[in-house]
Amino acid sequence: MGGSFDPPHKGHKRLLVAAAEELKPDRIVLVPAFQAPLKGLPGASAADRVRMLRKLVAGLPKKWRKRCSLDISEVRAHRMVYTVETLRRLRREHPRTELHFIVGSDSAESFYKWREPEALKRLCAWWVGMRPGAGVLLSPGASALKGGAQAPGGRRIPAHFKRLPGRFPDISSTDIRLAAATGAQWARLTTGPVASFIRKRGLYGLAIIRELERTLKKPRFQHTMAVADLSAKLAVRHGLDRHKAVLAGLLHDCGRCMPPEKMAERCRSWRVKAPSVRDIVRRQPKLLHSYLSAELARRRFGIQDPEVLSAIRKHTLGALRMSPLDKLIYVADAVSEDRDHPGSKPLRELAFRDLDIAMKACLWAKLEHARSNNSWMHPLSLSLWTRLRR
Ligand SMILES: [Fe+2]
Ligand SMILES: [Fe+2]
Repeated sequence: MGGSFDPPHKGHKRLLVAAAEELKPDRIVLVPAFQAPLKGLPGASAADRVRMLRKLVAGLPKKWRKRCSLDISEVRAHRMVYTVETLRRLRREHPRTELHFIVGSDSAESFYKWREPEALKRLCAWWVGMRPGAGVLLSPGASALKGGAQAPGGRRIPAHFKRLPGRFPDISSTDIRLAAATGAQWARLTTGPVASFIRKRGLYGLAIIRELERTLKKPRFQHTMAVADLSAKLAVRHGLDRHKAVLAGLLHDCGRCMPPEKMAERCRSWRVKAPSVRDIVRRQPKLLHSYLSAELARRRFGIQDPEVLSAIRKHTLGALRMSPLDKLIYVADAVSEDRDHPGSKPLRELAFRDLDIAMKACLWAKLEHARSNNSWMHPLSLSLWTRLRR
């Protein structure tokens, strides 16, 4: 069984045990993949993924645990290794051994996108564990279709796959990472020892959340988590990168709790650029916090991604040029669940329908708020309004 295992979870474990019970193998080999660094939210290092996988293996029933080992050659190669290469190597190393490869139904559905699928078919026997909502298994045996498996979107699992008995939980590593980073429940999706390891190492945004909880005031921290959560949902709705959206949502206000005088001083010493910075310092220094937060995200949290940093920078005043992610964070910040002004709920619903119109409506609401309080309006907000109103 191969995979990124970022992190390994109960779905992997169930699949392994079911395959072992069905095939009674002499050996079980897990092959963690080398993985290019994830964009946006940081994933676990290869070393940590291997450690977590060992913890998962330690929790297998004894008879299978004894036969289970890790093959870390792909991680050691430090490059992406195609499954076909790994299977050819295993075939060479064990010429008289029967090889079986185990995958979840989501991977099986994309089998023909793998490198050299026809060669793959000949190299070993293929087994699939069906997750809820899996595509139809195109098996010659009617029994293989038993259990429903309606095919949403007409998805198909090629006929050379054999189905493992049982249905397997709908758990994905991506969901675990995103749940951890948005403060949602995630620990029950993996095993206890793996969850403890993730917590201890602060993986998948947990270290960032811990630091934010320590440095932000409680309402600000709650707002931050609400923005991260809404950002993830809006990213799904609008087809944007969820990991980047969550990361920008988490860090958008990371410099917000600094006293305004200190913000101005820090911006000077770090040479942070902000539009009409002198006016901001004189009239409303807390408007510096978005520019400062981007710089803090870079310096303290090691964020390099220019799209994430841009979204943080532009979340308060906006900018004349804004990417879809910039707009998403601008809107998510204005209408997150913790905002209790009367207009926030309809605006939140609008954000799911149309990000551009929601952006315009949020800007209008901010300008109206400033006007009714007789407060200063930043020239950028005014020129942005002039542009969007057209
Ligand atoms: Fe903010
Ligand atoms: Fe905010």
